[in-house]
Amino acid sequence: MPKENTENNEKFGYFDDLNYEYVITTPYTPTPWINYLGNDGFYGLISNTAGGYCFDRDPKFRRLTRYRYNSVPLDNGGRYFYIGCNGEYWSATGRPVNTELDEYTCRHGMGYSRFNASKNNIATEVTSFIPLNTKAEVHRLIVTNNNDTEQSVDVFSFIEWCLWNAEDDGANYQRNLSTGEVEVEDSTIYHKTEYRERRNHYAFYSVNRELDGFETDRESFLGPYRGFDRPLAVEKGQASNSIARGWSPIASHHLKLQLAPGESQSLVFTLGYCEVEPEQKWAAPNIINKTPAQVLSARFDCDEKVSAELKKLNDYWHNLLGKFQVQTPDDKFNRAVNIWNQYQNMVTFNLSRSASFYESGIGRGMGFRDSNQDTIGFAHMVPEKVKERILDLSATQKEDGSAYHQYQPLTKKGNADIGGNFNDDPMWMVLSTANYIKETGDFSILDEVVPFDSDPNNTASHFTHLERSFNHVVNNLGPHGLPLIGRADWNDCLNLNCFSENPNESYQTTQRGASDVAESVMIAGQFVLYGQEFVDLCINIGKADLAKSCQSEVDKMRQTIKQHAWDGEWFLRAYDANGDKIGSNDNAEGKIFIESQGFCVMAGVGFDDGKALQAMNSVEKHLSTDFGIMLNQPAFTGYNKYIGEITSYPPGYKENAGIFCHNNPWITISEAMLGRGEKAYEYYSKITPAFLQDVHQLHKTEPYVYSQMIAGADSATPGEAKNSWLTGTAAWNYYAATQYILGIRPEYQGLRIDPCILPSWDKVSVSRTFRGATYKIELRNPLGLSKGVIQLEIDGQKIAGDMIDPTVFANQHNVIATLCNKD
Ligand code: BGC
Ligand code: NOJ
Repeated sequence: MPKENTENNEKFGYFDDLNYEYVITTPYTPTPWINYLGNDGFYGLISNTAGGYCFDRDPKFRRLTRYRYNSVPLDNGGRYFYIGCNGEYWSATGRPVNTELDEYTCRHGMGYSRFNASKNNIATEVTSFIPLNTKAEVHRLIVTNNNDTEQSVDVFSFIEWCLWNAEDDGANYQRNLSTGEVEVEDSTIYHKTEYRERRNHYAFYSVNRELDGFETDRESFLGPYRGFDRPLAVEKGQASNSIARGWSPIASHHLKLQLAPGESQSLVFTLGYCEVEPEQKWAAPNIINKTPAQVLSARFDCDEKVSAELKKLNDYWHNLLGKFQVQTPDDKFNRAVNIWNQYQNMVTFNLSRSASFYESGIGRGMGFRDSNQDTIGFAHMVPEKVKERILDLSATQKEDGSAYHQYQPLTKKGNADIGGNFNDDPMWMVLSTANYIKETGDFSILDEVVPFDSDPNNTASHFTHLERSFNHVVNNLGPHGLPLIGRADWNDCLNLNCFSENPNESYQTTQRGASDVAESVMIAGQFVLYGQEFVDLCINIGKADLAKSCQSEVDKMRQTIKQHAWDGEWFLRAYDANGDKIGSNDNAEGKIFIESQGFCVMAGVGFDDGKALQAMNSVEKHLSTDFGIMLNQPAFTGYNKYIGEITSYPPGYKENAGIFCHNNPWITISEAMLGRGEKAYEYYSKITPAFLQDVHQLHKTEPYVYSQMIAGADSATPGEAKNSWLTGTAAWNYYAATQYILGIRPEYQGLRIDPCILPSWDKVSVSRTFRGATYKIELRNPLGLSKGVIQLEIDGQKIAGDMIDPTVFANQHNVIATLCNKD
């Protein structure tokens, strides 16, 4: 049965669409295939063998459990359950014990993961989740004896505590090996390191049954020089009731079960986090106040309560995903749009780029650019949270319209270490705000009073913040009238003002030179696109004069692009600090880049004179591969300090000619705008994981979520993906698929239907919640078109135009949209 995968086996699992699950059938996936638990500030990362960790809000400063990134073997540290019976022992989640199991599956679902294993007719099921509004992971373990004789089964739980600050935890051993402290009372192990001093929080791990023993000291549990795969306590079948004093505190419960033939017993483990008011910290000298932990674990002290919480979680997800459901003739498209892409969008909403198996949770806060873009993937699901997020971002903007590149989730303040001057940042807030208003019709967000630089004494309306974003571009133009790039634009690795020769300095935070020369064509396209959005917003709120003056800036930029940023067959990428072209046919390497093609065409530049079409043809000719569209070509073969980090990568990886999936949907959208439905679909499906079932061994990352990067044609490993989960790819592909391929597009006045689909799709059904109403839309394509004009019929009545007006059609309606020829 499941075995270590040493062959080139392409099958690691399958989709169970009915249950919104991906079922993994081997512990030995090419990389750990993970899931996320939690929705409201307390989160867990959990791999297909239960590896990972949990934290409260901030994965750097409030990390509960220890995880070893890039460890050997892979994926070390997690919530482990060791099962011992008749002298053998194994892992209920497939690892870390490598005993071969008779059966193993891991089902990653919406906010939960379930592990089924069986060995010698002892079956286990572990269900792991974070209940709604709860600061705790709950793990329910059900053990079943399928033998026809009575069996004694030893269960050992295991987690290792992180000493809260995850960065310090992995570095400061002179201190940390002396600070660890725990308490044990009844069936709960409490972790109270540093609680004696400034912390007013502790963690606990409890089980709803009397203990037969416990361990809280790692070495006592594992034995000297042993790994997680063969703990001494498990081997002996007895815990030693150790109390950790410094070194590495852990929590392991030992439970002895007596199981009659056919009998099942269930255990509920709660791994929780508690904050206590400073004056209530102690129950007695050096004894912590355990009441909050007892209250929390009592919520899950029996099976019924756990099942009820699981149901609530399921209902929560069904409700969220139910806001947009589509049936096309293509199951893969349906599965991506209906389930996994929306799910990934919510995870990126929660975590931005902070904690994944590639982002270590200690480095990055919430990105200004990333978080604004992410909102376009979930405004339809959690609009009120999007509003809050946009206003949080707005509050970190500086008075001159520039933005801190990141902010910290605990303080919500701009991160001064990274600073700003990424000149694309400000305009992304126009996208997020316009998209939010189009979804909700809630213009009141513009009137919210928001600080600059988190200073409550310096505030302005959110609308003024957007105006500052707009003006920041206008006030920072370079010699050609194109926007100055600053440290970098969307492409963090195109560092035209850095000139770094020192390997110890960061490309992101180092800036030399006056930086008033290097210009970005990507920001120019972005300005035309979102500058126009800003103008439309002004018109919609009756600011005609402002709209007019802004329109002239946008028009000017459109002209400037045509005049100074067209290379002959495609749009240039930039001008460097010497005023030389980047992304031109005149360059030896990096002749063509994807970002400026996507942004100029999405902005509508060159639709009138063929440039848009030509740019797209050049993308296809020079950048498209079987695995997606590369960022640039030819790849840079050597380091060039005037171009920056992009040239630091080996050819074909990351920003140096990798397939950087985030920007592929810009081309999908551009193709849809040009009416080329087959091309749009081709680009969409090349990088969408649901379509890649046959290449998972090569692809390596999870088959149910997008990865940031797929190695490009110049690499040694074309098609190999990295950096799954936390990527703008998720939001952008969702936006492309729903608003441009399906063409169901929220606008200020209503929901427009303007698809650009495969000609072979004769019928598509969509259920879309919009401003409180639900529309059951049937898109008919009797002529086999990609694009055309839409004839609308709502509840049997013909409607002029292609827009559903929610003020006329509230509640629930049946819509038939027929795609017809233009004339
Ligand atoms: C990566 C970028 C990333 C940047 C900032 C670079 O090394 O290549 O993708 O945005 O770091 O963290
Ligand atoms: C990843 C970063 O999160 C994002 O902000 C950036 O745009 C891309 N890398 C491209 O460099």
